[in-house]
Amino acid sequence: MEKRKIIIDVDTGHDDAIAIMMAMLCKDEFDILGIATVNGNVCLDYTTENTLRVVEFMGGGVPVYRGCEYPLVACMYGKRPTLPKKDKPGEKTHGWLLDELPKATIAPESQDAVTWYVDTLMAAEDESITLVPVGPLTNLAHVFQIEPRTVKKIKEVICMGGGYKYGNTNPLSEYNIWVDPEAAEIVMRAGIKKFTWVPLDACYASYMTKDDVQRIRDIGNRVADAAADIISFIWSHPKFIGKDVNSIVFDALCISYMLDSSVLKTIVPAHCTVDNGGGIADGQTMFDIFNGRIGGEAPNCYVALDSDREKFLDIVCEVMSKAKEAGV
Ligand code: BDR
Ligand code: CA
Repeated sequence: MEKRKIIIDVDTGHDDAIAIMMAMLCKDEFDILGIATVNGNVCLDYTTENTLRVVEFMGGGVPVYRGCEYPLVACMYGKRPTLPKKDKPGEKTHGWLLDELPKATIAPESQDAVTWYVDTLMAAEDESITLVPVGPLTNLAHVFQIEPRTVKKIKEVICMGGGYKYGNTNPLSEYNIWVDPEAAEIVMRAGIKKFTWVPLDACYASYMTKDDVQRIRDIGNRVADAAADIISFIWSHPKFIGKDVNSIVFDALCISYMLDSSVLKTIVPAHCTVDNGGGIADGQTMFDIFNGRIGGEAPNCYVALDSDREKFLDIVCEVMSKAKEAGV
């Protein structure tokens, strides 16, 4: 089977780290052209450092490109904090750096992510590259604005973001899209041939319990052990200590979907628009799944409203068990 050429766009982040680990373990399935970083979970310096830590821990060989430090415009008029999330001097914030892994000794590429995206896509065959954005869509919005012809080079976009029934940053908005709603709207209008949303609805359905994480740790190799540590991060977070919460490995669901598409359920065509109004639901993804009967617009994407938790866990464990034979 021909390898799928992919570019992963990350704001690493604990769940982004698992997605990168899984993709790097699937060398027979994926040709990872590069990983682009963006401001999101934390500032660009930290998302890039965290990404470099994962790539180096996994044996390297995948180039990392620094992307956008700020949302397109959301900081300009106070819709979003003007300073990216970053430790203040002397104030260690829990978990912003992926301290489950050693500090990186490798560096990102010298070319910025947006320029690299344009060069890489424009040099590619039509409909040949899959983009897997699992952070804010700032980089991609720039790419499509600078060079709209890149769109026809894209085979598919599989994006962790948005929510049909759920929000996690305000009651209706999901974090990745909330960080840069204008970028998401630009991406939705770009005319991408096949855009599949993996929203909160699907991610929450594939939650992980402490027993599930123990199953990963019991695989018994260094990658599975590190993954178990990273997925367990939530249970040591001051906000959640002692709370009976599950761990959601949002971004890993996108990688799992490329390995076995049946892991996502109730995938329906929809017309997606993003609320940029700056009001209480700013950043909300509105999915008209009624084939335009409500909003009158033809579908511009697919959205997965559910997922198969057991299948997701099986995929994660199967991939993590590859580490030993892969010599990682
Ligand atoms: C998304 O936001 C980030 O916190 C995670 O990495 C994930 O991509 C979930 O809303
Ligand atoms: Ca992410």
